[in-house]
Amino acid sequence: MIFDTHAHYEDEQFDDDRKLILASMKENGVGRIVDVGSSVESTKVAVELAGQYDFIYAAVGIHPEEVGDIDESHMEWLKSLTKDEKVVAIGEIGLDYHYEDPVRDIQKVWFERQLELAHEVNLPVCIHSREAAKDTLDIMKKHHAEELGGVIHCFSYSTEMAETYIDMGFYIGVGGVVTFKNSKKLKEVVKNIPLERIVLETDCPYMAPVPNRGKRNSSLYLPYVVSAIADIKGVTEEEVISVTEENGLKLYRMI
Ligand code: NI
Repeated sequence: MIFDTHAHYEDEQFDDDRKLILASMKENGVGRIVDVGSSVESTKVAVELAGQYDFIYAAVGIHPEEVGDIDESHMEWLKSLTKDEKVVAIGEIGLDYHYEDPVRDIQKVWFERQLELAHEVNLPVCIHSREAAKDTLDIMKKHHAEELGGVIHCFSYSTEMAETYIDMGFYIGVGGVVTFKNSKKLKEVVKNIPLERIVLETDCPYMAPVPNRGKRNSSLYLPYVVSAIADIKGVTEEEVISVTEENGLKLYRMI
C-alpha cells in the first residue's frame, strides 16, 4: 500500500474534514502516513494524531522558519515526546534561505541542536533544505548524519547532490513537484537514482500534483505521483508502490 512519508494533517486546512479524509485512507490504498511536526503547536497535534490512528506515525521537530522563538526547554520537550513509540523521527529540521527569516545563523543553531537531539534519542531525521544546499550538507557532515539516516524531504537539488545523500544512507523524498511540467531537474534525479532510494510524500496540504496543482493536497492524490515515477523509470505503478513502501519502512526503522 502507499506510504505517505511526509504529511501535515495537523494543518488548519484540514479542520473541517480531517476525520472524514483520514477515515478514507485505507480504502483508497494509503496504508501508512507520517505526520511531520513543523512548529511547537503542529508537533503537539502530530503526536495526538499518531495516538488516535493506528496507521499514523509522528515526526517531532521545529522547521527552520519556526525556530525564531524557541529555546533549550523546547529541546527537552521534544526529547520527552520521543518516548512515545509512534514517534519515528526528528523533523522537519533544516535550513530555508528562501525568506531568510529567521536569519541564517539562528537557523543553523537549531538545525545543529536538533541533529544532536536525533543522536541523543537515536532516531532518523526529516530534512527540509531550500536554497541552502552547501550549508545543509556541511552541517550534516559535521554532525555525522550518516549515523542517523533519514530523508531529504521535497528534494530540489541536483542528481549529484542526491547521490551524495544516498551515499550517506539517506532517502530522497519525491512528491507532487515531479508531476509539474517545469520540474525537469527533479525528473532527472528520479531517472538517475535507484527506485530503492525514493520515498513518496505529499507535504500536504501543500504541493498538490497535476491535475490538482494549486488545490489542497492530500495522500489521496499520491497515485498521480506514483504514475509519474512509473513513467520516468519504466516500471509498473504496483512496483513503485511496493518498493517505496518498503523504503519508507526502512527509513523510519519500522522493519
Ligand atoms: Ni513539510
